[in-house]
Amino acid sequence: MVSSTRNDGFVVFEHVQKSYDGESLVVKDLNLAISKGEFLTMLGPSGSGKTTCLMMLAGFETATHGEIRLDGRPINSVPPHKRGIGMVFQNYALFPHMTVGENLSFPLEVRGIGKADREQKIRRALDMVQMGAFANRRPAQLSGGQQQRIALARALVFDPKLVLMDEPLGALDKQLREHMQFEIKHLHETLGITVVYVTHDQGEALTMSDRIAVFNDGRIQQLAPPSDLYERPQNSFVAGFIGENNKLPGTVEEIAEGRALVRLATGELIDATPVNVSRQGQKTLVSIRPERVEFKPEMLPPNAHLIDAEVMEFIYMGDIFRTRLKVAGSEEFVIKSRNTLGQRMLEPGEKIRIGWAPQDARALDPL
Ligand SMILES: Nc1ncnc2c1ncn2[C@@H]1O[C@H](COP(=O)(O)OP(=O)(O)OP(=O)(O)O)[C@@H](O)[C@H]1O
Ligand SMILES: [Mg+2]
Repeated sequence: MVSSTRNDGFVVFEHVQKSYDGESLVVKDLNLAISKGEFLTMLGPSGSGKTTCLMMLAGFETATHGEIRLDGRPINSVPPHKRGIGMVFQNYALFPHMTVGENLSFPLEVRGIGKADREQKIRRALDMVQMGAFANRRPAQLSGGQQQRIALARALVFDPKLVLMDEPLGALDKQLREHMQFEIKHLHETLGITVVYVTHDQGEALTMSDRIAVFNDGRIQQLAPPSDLYERPQNSFVAGFIGENNKLPGTVEEIAEGRALVRLATGELIDATPVNVSRQGQKTLVSIRPERVEFKPEMLPPNAHLIDAEVMEFIYMGDIFRTRLKVAGSEEFVIKSRNTLGQRMLEPGEKIRIGWAPQDARALDPL
């Protein structure tokens, strides 16, 4: 039995690099350890290297440098079908000339599994995705969502310990996508499988994942559980990519003991939490989430920072109000507030005072 001598994760990328052309690196020194049973999502903009990482793990691409391990074993030279990994892609990639049953049978045949066993496994996998009645249909006779379920069943049919999914729901409409997110999450929980999931949809990543690796430019910018990523982004890229953020440019005037004093472009001084700035004189972007800004200063703690603002636009969105303001020279400052009893609607041109708690203002790199 091969047991992991290095107790460092079920899937490990160690100093992995990838270049397609021998010059530019599309994956730059990737270090990532994924635990058994974890749902890990790679999230990032187009071209950031997510699919490349998944393809290296699946064995369809080779790493230019570094080592990839699965269950303690280096797999760099193990062919894809011997890695025991299930895969689901965006375009389903079902074999069009085969029935659903034959599509599911294929990965079992490749693995030399006998007929009786195959039939039992196919039935179980189809039931798992509630497609038991569709074994004799061809892919063209199924809806997009049904095809995606079959693709999922095919990835799971041979009991893989690891399943890779690359934008599996990208082609589905919003409602079906949300339903399938729930189903995939449910399967992950009931089967106890490890999932590496790729998406560029942040909502999908936040709702499904145990941890999210935010990719940009071939590097992981931050690896953290969803709430951490949203509440404590470690740099301006992550702050801007996950959710919405108000950004006020300024210069670090003083920095000490978890507190930075930032002079904004307009001359105003504000308190912020230093995140990735460390010295006086550094340029910074102070980022504040729209839902952390308050119209009613009496609702804020005594050390809150208050600032003048002018209403530019007020949008009624039903459950919330979205107010765009001019604050410290920026006309793109947004507040999201809940539509609560007695909350009045604001008029463009109105001058108001707004505020936030200093810990909700985070001093980040200027990008
Ligand atoms: N087979 C290939 N040959 C050459 N370059 C490639 C190849 N596949 C990907 N690339 C390049 O590598 C970079 C990373 O691509 P990758 O497909 O990993 O990005 P991604 O994060 O999955 O993007 P998307 O969200 O658009 O799917 C891109 O610049 C892309 O053009
Ligand atoms: Mg991709």
